[in-house]
Amino acid sequence: MVENKKVIFSGIQPSGDLTIGNYLGALKNWVALQDAYEPYYCVVDLHALTVRQNPAELRARTLKNIAIYLASGLDPNKNTIFIQSHVSAHSEASWLLNCFCYMGELSRMTQFKDKSQKVGESVNAGLFTYPVLMAADILLYNTDLVPVGSDQKQHIELARDLAIRFNNLYSPTFKIPEAYIGDSGARIMDLQEPTKKMSKSAENPNAYILIMDPPDVIRKKISRAVTDDVGVVRYCDEQPGISNLINIMSTVTNKKPEDIEKQYEGVGYAQFKSDVADALIEELKPVQEKVKSLLEDKTYIESIYKSGAEKASYVANKTLRKMQRKLGLIPR
Ligand code: AMP
Ligand code: TRP
Repeated sequence: MVENKKVIFSGIQPSGDLTIGNYLGALKNWVALQDAYEPYYCVVDLHALTVRQNPAELRARTLKNIAIYLASGLDPNKNTIFIQSHVSAHSEASWLLNCFCYMGELSRMTQFKDKSQKVGESVNAGLFTYPVLMAADILLYNTDLVPVGSDQKQHIELARDLAIRFNNLYSPTFKIPEAYIGDSGARIMDLQEPTKKMSKSAENPNAYILIMDPPDVIRKKISRAVTDDVGVVRYCDEQPGISNLINIMSTVTNKKPEDIEKQYEGVGYAQFKSDVADALIEELKPVQEKVKSLLEDKTYIESIYKSGAEKASYVANKTLRKMQRKLGLIPR
């Protein structure tokens, strides 16, 4: 391990099958960062429990997500890949940080406001304190950078505030992390309502494309994607549907949106959509094949998340012990 590499931490919830939003907006960026940084990536299964899960499905999706992390190109020798619930320091540190977080701060979180509105009175306390667990995830590893989608920025601000508060009350304990929002693919939009972020929890399956969707499904979903009646392939706010497809193509092919506009001058939407589908199918094909073969080797997957948890626990426990000591808890 090279000592002076900056630390990266990020996680994805196993609350639904991963979409091309997760792949293009998160995983692809993670792969690009693995050489220059020291990354910790986890499957945040405890966060997923804030919404009722079917136990068998949660188990299957957690393993599938590990397979997808690996198949997307994360090298287990360069990244610590693990399952959040396997490192108990996350839950323990979360409790300690809960005692430093204000109700007011948590009430202001946009994600909580959105989600609790949908659920009403029966909103569970885990959904309220969710950002504190996320702060624990991040702070335990002396994290420098947290690559996330822009919707998570507010949660990272909270992690920073909690770290600063703790450091000021006691003594420097935590590094102050920063959000890292990648530019290309930062926001892949919903195919049916292209002003909304593509999400694995959308009700209409035509709204998203899953990483594991077969080619014919991808083709169908893209051909049904909402566009407009302008009839020109142009990257602009007035054409959110077409712009989203340009963005997908741009992220997959590494071509600039302007170049894609030029390439499709005078070409109809049907042809453009068919080409976007081709590009995406081509991009996902090797990933899908790898996921399938990895899932046939459960022992290998197990060896990855077990050694990941061991490495992660070592670092996380060091920070946790420091917190406990400073707070006046008696060392064991
Ligand atoms: P989530 O699926 O909401 O747990 O998000 C996990 C990570 O995937 C986030 O931090 C984002 O970086 C990324 N992500 C999810 N959906 C999208 C999207 N539609 N566009 C870009 N990135 C996304
Ligand atoms: N809340 C994040 C999301 O929904 C997932 C997450 C949990 C996370 N813990 C994290 C992301 C720590 C980055 C760092 O996307």
